[in-house]
Amino acid sequence: MNGETQKKQVVLTCAQPTGKLHLGNYLGAVKNWVSLMEGRECYFGVVDMHAITIPYVPAELRKNVYDCAAQYIACGLDPDKCNIFLQSSVVGHAELAWILGCICPIGNLERMTQYKDKARKHKDALNSGLLYYPVLMAADILIYDADLVPVGEDQKQHIELTRDLAQKFNFKYSDTFKLPEPYIPQSGARVMSLQTPASKMSKSDPNQSGTLYITDSADTLRKKIMSAVTDSEGGVKYAPDSKPGVSNLMGIFSAITGKSYAEIENEFEGKGYGDFKKSVADAVISHLEPVRLRYEEISSDKKYIEEVLKRGGEAAQRRANRLMSKVFRKVGFMRFE
Ligand code: AMP
Ligand code: TRP
Repeated sequence: MNGETQKKQVVLTCAQPTGKLHLGNYLGAVKNWVSLMEGRECYFGVVDMHAITIPYVPAELRKNVYDCAAQYIACGLDPDKCNIFLQSSVVGHAELAWILGCICPIGNLERMTQYKDKARKHKDALNSGLLYYPVLMAADILIYDADLVPVGEDQKQHIELTRDLAQKFNFKYSDTFKLPEPYIPQSGARVMSLQTPASKMSKSDPNQSGTLYITDSADTLRKKIMSAVTDSEGGVKYAPDSKPGVSNLMGIFSAITGKSYAEIENEFEGKGYGDFKKSVADAVISHLEPVRLRYEEISSDKKYIEEVLKRGGEAAQRRANRLMSKVFRKVGFMRFE
C-alpha cells in the first residue's frame, strides 16, 4: 500500500442479513454507500453475529447472507472497488467487543432505544447478546479505524456509544482509537409505506402492497405504485402533514430523478394523480430494472458470492489485525509468535 492510499478516508458500515431489501433500504442506505465508494477505502459488512441476537433458523441465516451480498452487489457495490465481508469470518470483532464490554457501564446499554424496543418484542427469548449488541457494533467500527460510518437516523445513538467507548479506552489505555463520524443522508432517509404513509416502509408491514422490494417485477412495482394511497384533494403538492401519500411519492420521485419538489410540482401542474403515479412507476421501474436483472444473474452464482466475501474478508482481516495487535499490547494481553 503506498502513502497515497493510506491517506484515503475509511468508510465502514454494516447491515444485518435479514432477507429482501426494500426501496427504503435502498434510497436511505445502500444507494448512499455506492456514492461513497469512489476515492475512499470502503468496508461493507454483512453482520451475521448481530443476527443471532433474536430467534432465527441457521439454514435461513446462511441463505440470507448469500442473498444480502447478492443484493448489495446488484445495487452497485462493486467488489473491485470496495470490500464486502462477512462479520463472523473476520477474527477480532468478538475479541474487541469483549474488551470494550469491560469498560462499558451496563446502564449505558440498558438505555439504548433499539434494545428497549427489541427487548419488548422478544420478551420470551431475551438473551444477553441483545443487550450487548451495541458493544459488538462499536467493535465493528473501531476495529477498522473508520473515519465515516453511513447509517440511518435510527443508528445515531449506537454511534454515540461507539465514540464514548473509544474515548473511555483512549483515556484508560492511551490514544488508540479514532472517533468515527456518523454520515446520515439528507434525502430518502425516510421512505414511507405506500398504503399507510404515516409509517415507515418496512419488511414487517402486515400490508405488503405498501412495500416496494428492489427485486419485485416491473408488473408488481407498477401495481403497487398505481394503487398507492393519496387524498381526495387532487394536485401534486408537497405537504407531508396534509398530503402524506402524495408527498411520499414525491420524495421517492425526487430521490430517484434528482428533481426538486418545486420542479416536480411545476411538471405536474394541472395533471391528475394517475399521470403522476404513472411517471413515478416509470422512474422506479427503469431505475430498479438493471438492479433486478443483475440480482437474478448473481444470486444463482453462489461460488461468485463466496469468492467476493472471501476476498473482502481477507482485506478486512488485514486491516483489523493492525489495530488488534495494538489493542492486545495496550490492555496487557500477550501473543506468542
Ligand atoms: P433495517 O432494514 O431496519 O435493518 O435497516 C437497514 C438500513 O436501511 C438502515 O440504514 C436504515 O436506516 C435504512 N432504512 C430502513 N427502513 C427505511 C425507510 N423506510 N426509509 C429510509 N431508510 C430506511
Ligand atoms: N445495528 C445496525 C442496524 O441495525 C447494523 C450494524 C451492525 C452496523 N454493526 C454496524 C451499522 C457497524 C454500522 C456500523 O442497521
